[in-house]
Amino acid sequence: MRPNYDYKGRSQTIIRKIISDMPPGTISLARGDPEKPKRDMIEEFYGYINEVDNGGYAPTCGSDYSRKVFSKHYKERHDIDIPKENFCIMDGGASRALFSIFVSYLEDGDTVLLPDVTFLLYEGQIKSISDMMPEGIKVGYVKTNPDFSLDEEDLKKKVEKEKPKMFVFATPNNPTGTRYGEEELKLISDLSNDYEFGIVSDEVYDELIFDGRKHHSILSYDDNAIQVNSASKKFMPDLRLGWISSKNGERIKELLPKVQIINPSAPSSVVHAYARSLENGLIKRYTDDVLPRYKKNVNHLSDELEDLGFKVQKPDSTFYVFPKLPDNIDDMKFSDVLIKNGVAGVPGSAFGPGGKRHMRFSCGNATIDELDEAIKRIKKSLKVYK
Ligand SMILES: Cc1ncc(COP(=O)(O)O)c(C=O)c1O
Repeated sequence: MRPNYDYKGRSQTIIRKIISDMPPGTISLARGDPEKPKRDMIEEFYGYINEVDNGGYAPTCGSDYSRKVFSKHYKERHDIDIPKENFCIMDGGASRALFSIFVSYLEDGDTVLLPDVTFLLYEGQIKSISDMMPEGIKVGYVKTNPDFSLDEEDLKKKVEKEKPKMFVFATPNNPTGTRYGEEELKLISDLSNDYEFGIVSDEVYDELIFDGRKHHSILSYDDNAIQVNSASKKFMPDLRLGWISSKNGERIKELLPKVQIINPSAPSSVVHAYARSLENGLIKRYTDDVLPRYKKNVNHLSDELEDLGFKVQKPDSTFYVFPKLPDNIDDMKFSDVLIKNGVAGVPGSAFGPGGKRHMRFSCGNATIDELDEAIKRIKKSLKVYK
């Protein structure tokens, strides 16, 4: 038996490959791992798991209690009114939630637009579905400006020309650590009404914004958009907990048939413990604890890279830095040189054509000493490359 697809060039595999090829002693700035919660926080979380006496299959979209807590949290934290019925909490993280959405809506011959650059899983998942169709699904990229905001003209042009089925984006964005403001989200919403395409907004980093600045969610500006979210960056990826929500309850109902097949139910204990952690402030305590370090790390790395001749758009959220390489250095080749010199990052091309000549460095788990050592090795790699 042979798989019906060719995995070559599937960008998600680039990160996995880099990690599996890393020699011992490599400083890994490749994978998007957040900082591990402190032991007492993990114990508090597992204490909530012990409260659950279920063991059977849970409701597909999570218990009434957990959906109620999510609804209350969105109101209190983000001032967004989403009724509890409009949340569907599932296992497999945001990755599974995204796949459920793509499988539910995308048809042969459709086009999906993505910002250039964005999270690499979207293209990989869409192409996997496309591989099973006679004509396939086209993925188009919308240009972004040097600060990674959307190029408004190009967005309008592509929407008019390509008549997309959906526009998918992440805000805050991986790999750039930048995010869309009110104006951009309103523009996306207006265009989606005029040209009747769906909006999928991936907001897994919504609690990772520096200096207490407000997160702008598509849910505040569009009544039909679907928001994808997850516990991975707000507490632990290991929980594999994701969810979708929309102001329009129909969006959740129309996704249910596929969600029920792909994701019969999330573990009730994990969903319950996450809801309790939201209610009791554990999630906020965790993000309040890690955010100053994320900010310090990305600022430090950005400054040092700028001194080496990289161009950096300083992130105001997440734990990623996405610098443009100096001179005419090729990101794929530079990534190999870096690995040989003991640093793992991800070549920018993995995130879209506009990522060429960039690298993504993920510093959620790094210490300042490790970043300083990484900088020395990057400096050496630049010399060796030339
Ligand atoms: C923008 C974005 N969306 C989704 C995911 C996947 O999240 P999860 O671990 O919940 O599947 C990631 C992981 O890096 C991400 O950066």
